[in-house]
Amino acid sequence: MRADIQEILLDEEALEKRVSELGAKISEEYFGKNPILIGILKGSAVFLSDLMRKITIPVEIDFLKASSYGSAAQSCGVVQLENDLSIEVKNRTIILVEDIVDTGNTVKYLLERFSGLGAADVKICSLLNKKGRREQIVAPDYIGFEIPNAFVVGYGLDYAQKYRNLPYIGILKKEIYQ
Ligand code: IMP
Ligand code: MG
Repeated sequence: MRADIQEILLDEEALEKRVSELGAKISEEYFGKNPILIGILKGSAVFLSDLMRKITIPVEIDFLKASSYGSAAQSCGVVQLENDLSIEVKNRTIILVEDIVDTGNTVKYLLERFSGLGAADVKICSLLNKKGRREQIVAPDYIGFEIPNAFVVGYGLDYAQKYRNLPYIGILKKEIYQ
């Protein structure tokens, strides 16, 4: 798998450090609020499992499966929700946990959906922010790292379902997806 990676953007140490910082910040800012962390599958699975263990206040965990990609490296813009929540979100404090915000279509859709369900507050925590390709006006409230406009994999992020298990985040060689 390493041979398919052009460059390591964020190594294990950098990820660990930043995720710890985010966990500490969330623990402080959400004290007494009993938030629900909702991971957007599958990409956020690794980030969420590390992040939740750095949070020191009570939290609930749930997952949603959303996809806008199919198996291409370009978002098709249409967000599909493949499963629904098991927790009642009305009047609850929600933190949507994403691997990356790219065009913004996914989080825009989810923000509208949760407001519609009567959540008291919805914020976005995204490990990565790729501002260069935005199609929607949305900004994550908590960001791990700003990254350049490149296709990245690892630490949960995939290309055609591969590379999620890489312990670092790397830029995928163009010849793999072109
Ligand atoms: P958006 O709806 O375009 O903001 O895309 C959000 C989703 O697209 C993310 O949750 C990822 O699953 C996927 N995605 C966007 N950019 C990348 C990337 O560079 N590598 C892997 N997946 C990506
Ligand atoms: Mg995703």
